[in-house]
Amino acid sequence: MTSPNPQSAIGIFDSGLGGLTVAGAVHRAFPHEAICYLGDTARVPYGAKSPETVQRYAREDIAFLLQQGVKVIVAACNTVSAAALPELANHYPVPVLGVVEMGVETALESSPRRIGVIGTQTTVGSEAYVRAIHRRVPDVSVIQKACPLFVPLIEEGWTDHAVTRAVIQEYLSPMRDSGVDGLILGCTHYPLIRALLGEFFGSAVRMTDSAEAMVRALRQSFDRGELPRAEGNHARCSRYYVTDRSNRFEQLVTAFMGEDDLQVQQIRPDELAMTLEKDPR
Ligand code: DGL
Repeated sequence: MTSPNPQSAIGIFDSGLGGLTVAGAVHRAFPHEAICYLGDTARVPYGAKSPETVQRYAREDIAFLLQQGVKVIVAACNTVSAAALPELANHYPVPVLGVVEMGVETALESSPRRIGVIGTQTTVGSEAYVRAIHRRVPDVSVIQKACPLFVPLIEEGWTDHAVTRAVIQEYLSPMRDSGVDGLILGCTHYPLIRALLGEFFGSAVRMTDSAEAMVRALRQSFDRGELPRAEGNHARCSRYYVTDRSNRFEQLVTAFMGEDDLQVQQIRPDELAMTLEKDPR
C-alpha cells in the first residue's frame, strides 16, 4: 500500500443514493475532508442481485474511485460490504472499508444477548453479519430478516407512513417477540426509518446503523495513523457522481442528504466497466 496524499478525498460508493446517509454523517463528523461519492443509480438495487453480480459491480465502482485518486474507499452499501468485500478488500493500493465489521463491533458494545439483523435479501443470504458476530461472541443468538420492501418505501418518501408501519409490523413482529435487545440496521436506507423502528421495538432495543459505524471506523483509522487527515481547517469541496439521473433524482438527493444543491456529474455504467478494463484487479 502506497502512502496516501492527505489532501485526497474519501471515496464513498453505494448502489444508489442510500449511501448519502453515510456520506452525510462522514461530512458532519469530518468537515475538512473532501468526499468523492459514486452512486450506481442505473443499476440499483444491488440487494436482490447475486453475489457474483454485486462483486462485479463493486469492482467497477472501486476502480472508478481509485481513478479519482481517493485516499480510502468506503463501501457504504451493506450488500457490497456483506457479499463482495471479503473477497475484494485486500486487492487495492488504498484501504477499502466496509460497514459490517464496525457495525457489529458497535452493536456488541451494549452486550446484547439476542441480536436482530435486518437488510436486503443478498445481505441476509450472505450471513456476513452472523459470521462477524459469532467470530467475536460465539454464544450470542442472532436473528436475521430480509426486508426488501423497506428500500422502495423509503425511496417513495414514506418514512413516517401507516403503510411503512404495517410493513415493519409484518416483517419484524416475530423478531420483536423473540426478545431481541440489539438491532443492526444493515442497509444504507434504514437510518431514515430509525424513528419508526424505535417506536416499534421500544427503547430497550439498542439500534446501530451503518452511518455511525462508518464514522467510527474512519475516526479509528485517523487516530491510529492508518489514514492521514486533510491538512488545514477549511471545509473541502466534494464531488458526486451517479450512473443515471432520473426525474426523481433531486428529490432523492434531498431526502437522503437534506440538501438540494449538490454538484452531481453523470458517468455511464459502460464507462465504469471500461475503468476496470484499464486497471483490472
Ligand atoms: N445500498 C443497499 C444496501 O445497503 C440498499 C439498496 C440496494 O438494494 O441496492 O444494502
